[in-house]
Amino acid sequence: MILDRFKLDGKNALVTGAGRGIGRALAFALAEAGANVAVADILEENAIQTAKDIAEATGHKTIAIKCDIANADEVKAMVKKVVDSFGKLDIAVNNAGISIPIKGILDVSPEEWKKQMDINLNGTWNCLKAEAEVMIPNGYGKIINTGSICGHVIWPDPQLPYSVSKAAVIHMTRAAGAELIKHGIRVNCISPGVTKVADLFPEVVDVFFKTAPIDRFGSPADHQGAVVFLASEVSDFMVGQEIVLDGGYTIM
Ligand SMILES: NC(=O)c1ccc[n+]([C@@H]2O[C@H](COP(=O)([O-])OP(=O)(O)OC[C@H]3O[C@@H](n4cnc5c(N)ncnc54)[C@H](O)[C@@H]3O)[C@@H](O)[C@H]2O)c1
Repeated sequence: MILDRFKLDGKNALVTGAGRGIGRALAFALAEAGANVAVADILEENAIQTAKDIAEATGHKTIAIKCDIANADEVKAMVKKVVDSFGKLDIAVNNAGISIPIKGILDVSPEEWKKQMDINLNGTWNCLKAEAEVMIPNGYGKIINTGSICGHVIWPDPQLPYSVSKAAVIHMTRAAGAELIKHGIRVNCISPGVTKVADLFPEVVDVFFKTAPIDRFGSPADHQGAVVFLASEVSDFMVGQEIVLDGGYTIM
């Protein structure tokens, strides 16, 4: 039956940046679909709280892991902790990401450029590599990266570093999807449009509503169905692709 094929019973998942925002909603969705979930975040308290809330709400196993995805050693230790705790890793959602403040090219410092790339691009790479290493021997895995509509279209206010980092994540998804499918590992990506979270830049509000055909922002819950689809066997024929959830912004 089709709804049964969305179920994640017996699967073990990892979500980075799951202490709050979209990542927290994705971690909840995977657990509600049946998976045990490792909640990773650079903010340990938030990771612990999310893991506790998910365990209470779903009855599934959860663990909280403090990890800075920009640090390759911490990422390897994070993946090891998941395997040690759950036995194996089936689903990995590389959601953690940041945006440096919106500003023009001449105002972006070398430190800001490096920080943007260290987290969004190198951090996603660190996770992809460590996850693939433990999934390949199993001949199975689902890796779901988080892109952004800014990886496709140029936002009217200048945010070149963020846009470039997300375009790279989307292309990394394609290249990794092509390379890892022979090991039974599907790599795909979710690209949110403007989604209401705690730190949403006020500058994006007017810009979004000027163009988007929808009359509201996204909410973290709007991305939950896509992650369950990509994590489940239903999407097994999908390789290196992207689901864009943006209220139609990028079709205009
Ligand atoms: N909210 C949006 O409008 C929007 C749009 C497009 C894409 N995205 C992407 O969605 C993802 C989630 O963003 P969000 O909107 O929920 O933001 P958020 O700031 O609410 O959540 C991001 C989480 O990642 C964690 N994090 C940050 N740096 C980290 C690091 N180095 N290591 C581990 N964890 C780290 C934060 O502590 C936080 O819990 C990001 O990749 C973001 O770029 C968001």
